[in-house]
Amino acid sequence: NRVVVVYGGTSAERDVSLKSGQAVLAALLRQGIDAVGYDPYEAGLTGLEQLAPEQVFIALHGRGGEDGCLQGALELLGIRYTGSGVLASALGMDKQRTKQVWQALGLPTPESVILSGSSDWQSVVEQLGLPLIVKPVHEGSTLGITIVNSRDELVSAYHEAARFDAQVMAERFVVGDEYTVALLGEQVLPAILVEVPGGFYDYEAKYLSNTTQYHLPCGLSGEDEQALAELCQQAFAAIGGSGWGRVDVMRDADGQFWLLEVNTVPGMTDHSLVPQAAAHAGIGFDQLVVEILATAGW
Ligand code: DAL
Ligand code: MG
Repeated sequence: NRVVVVYGGTSAERDVSLKSGQAVLAALLRQGIDAVGYDPYEAGLTGLEQLAPEQVFIALHGRGGEDGCLQGALELLGIRYTGSGVLASALGMDKQRTKQVWQALGLPTPESVILSGSSDWQSVVEQLGLPLIVKPVHEGSTLGITIVNSRDELVSAYHEAARFDAQVMAERFVVGDEYTVALLGEQVLPAILVEVPGGFYDYEAKYLSNTTQYHLPCGLSGEDEQALAELCQQAFAAIGGSGWGRVDVMRDADGQFWLLEVNTVPGMTDHSLVPQAAAHAGIGFDQLVVEILATAGW
């Protein structure tokens, strides 16, 4: 009954994934589970089958791990794996199409447009207002994301995002508070309010800074937290998500929630959000890892 933790890979989030995967692997070994790590960085999946996994724990963030490709390969190999299936993984990796699904279902998400090198920058600014936010469509950990305050900044933000992805989007910027909600099987874990002294929850604030504050409980009224939990469950179900995941949300000054994105392989580093939410719900890291495995039939 061996678990293979797949982590690392070749995405821009490789370093984050190495940390997530090492933490997951250590948790499994601490509990006496036969577990081994596998990094597709050098040899793709050619060595994976030799490890004879009973189940794969996917801890590989970003493209090649979180986007349905690995999931599809494991389906073909007949190996069970944690988290969402092919379609939900591919959709969740695409921030623009995720939003289109939500919009079709009437779920609130800020307006956005796809940019190209020949975009009419002025009309983008007029449509979305300033500030706006520019993102690679298929990226994670805030890589390549810029908050834009002027038309000129929009052009350089586009080029920055285009370093990470062939597709770039601009989204209306919601001024307000950032919440994140973790889903574990049928459970919704307590919401976290993320507060960054510098203002922007970027890569530095996510993984390097010790000044980022994670508020748990999040300070919402019981009613509002319940509404947020239900919204996030709907948002996850809308893309067909399963197993576990995390939904990131903004709340504006009027108290309206706005869905930003779904993470189908959320971070499991010592700075990451799902482990903190789980701990607040009385689920320690080791138990969390086993519960995630259990959602995939362990
Ligand atoms: N993409 C990072 C790993 C996260 O969502 O936690
Ligand atoms: Mg993300």
